[in-house]
Amino acid sequence: MEKIYVTKPELPPLEEFLPYLEKIWASRVLTNNGPFHQELESALCAYLGVKHISLFTNATIALVTALQALRISGEVITTPYSFVATAHSLMWNGVRPVFVDIEPDTLNLDPSKIEAAITPHTTAIMPVHCYGNPCDVDAIELIASKYNLRVIYDAAHAFGVDCHCGSVLTHGDLSVLSFHATKVFNTFEGGAIVCPDAHTKQRIDQLKNFGFVDETTVIAPGINGKMSEFNAALGLVQLRHVDAAIAARAVVDANYRQLLTDVEGVTCLPEPKHLNANYSYFPVLIDPRYGRSRDAINEKLKAQNIFARRYFYPLISEFPMYQGLPSATRANLPVASEAANQVLCLPIYPNLSPEIQRQVVDCIVGARA
Ligand SMILES: Cc1ncc(COP(=O)(O)O)c(C=O)c1O
Repeated sequence: MEKIYVTKPELPPLEEFLPYLEKIWASRVLTNNGPFHQELESALCAYLGVKHISLFTNATIALVTALQALRISGEVITTPYSFVATAHSLMWNGVRPVFVDIEPDTLNLDPSKIEAAITPHTTAIMPVHCYGNPCDVDAIELIASKYNLRVIYDAAHAFGVDCHCGSVLTHGDLSVLSFHATKVFNTFEGGAIVCPDAHTKQRIDQLKNFGFVDETTVIAPGINGKMSEFNAALGLVQLRHVDAAIAARAVVDANYRQLLTDVEGVTCLPEPKHLNANYSYFPVLIDPRYGRSRDAINEKLKAQNIFARRYFYPLISEFPMYQGLPSATRANLPVASEAANQVLCLPIYPNLSPEIQRQVVDCIVGARA
C-alpha cells in the first residue's frame, strides 16, 4: 500500500528547471549573490509584497543571523509551541529563551501573557506564525513599543500569508521564512529574512557572507548563510507554480473540514479569517470527548500506512537544554502543554486525493471503537 506522509515536497516539471542548470553550467557562477540569487530576491519581494529580502541556506541560519543583525542579548520572550529551531536560534546567540503560553484558538503566542514575563533583561519577542496563522501582530506591536523591545517573527510557515493589512511579513523588525522541502514554497533547503529597509538588508547580507564588506574588510564575525545559484534557480521555477499549489491545498483543507464536521472530540483550528492563507498544515485537536488518545489515533493511522505528525510535541520547553528554565514548567504553559498532547497534523499537500482524505477520516472515526 502507498505510504502517505504528512506532506509531499512540491517539485516543478524537470524540463522547466533544466535550462537554468544549463545557464549555471555555462556561466560557472555557483553562489555569492549570483544572477539567479538576485532575480529570486526581486521576484519574492514582488510576490510577497515586501520591500527587501535576503536569501539564506535555511531558516535556522537566518534566525541566528536576524538576532545578530539586531544585536539581541539577554532574554527573549518566545513560544514553546514551535519547531525546536526557534529556541535554538536564541541559544546560538547566548540569549535566554523565556517561554510564554499560547492562545487556545490559534496556538500562537498569547499577547495577554507577554507583559508579565518582561524583565529588565528582556530585549525582544520572537513569536511564531504557527501553521501560517498570523499572530495578533497589533497587540504584539503595542507591547513591543511600550517596552522598547524588538520583534523578530519566525515566519517559517507563513509564506504568502496576508493579515488584515497586507503581507503578515511586514510586521515586526524582521521576519524569517523557511523554504525547506516540506514547506509550501521550497528550494530543497532555503530560507530568507524579510527586512524593512536597504540599510538593514545590507547588514544582513554582510553577516551571511562572513562579515565581508569588500575584498579585505570584515566588520563582524559573520557566518556562511548564502543561498546557492542552484537553490535560487529552483526557487524561480517553483514560484511559477506556487499559486496553483496553494489553491490545491485550499481544496484539501475545505474537504477535511467538511469530512470532520460531526466527529465529536476532533476539532479543527478555526478557518483562517485573513485574506490569503497558505494551508500549509492541517492540525486537529483530539480532546477527551473523543474517548481515546491522540496517540491511539496516530498508531491506527500508521497501521494503514498514513503518517500524520504530532507537530508540536514535545514542547520545546520539554527538551533537556530548556527544561531547567524557570519559564519551562507545565504550570506556566497550560494551554501549550494541553495542545501538545492533543494535536495531530493530518496529511496535506496539493492534490491529495479525496479518497485518501476519506480513508484518513474513516480511520480516525474507526479508531474510537
Ligand atoms: C517554526 C519553524 N521555525 C524554524 C524552522 C527551521 O527551518 P529550516 O529547516 O529552513 O532551517 C522550521 C522548520 O521546519 C519551523 O517549522
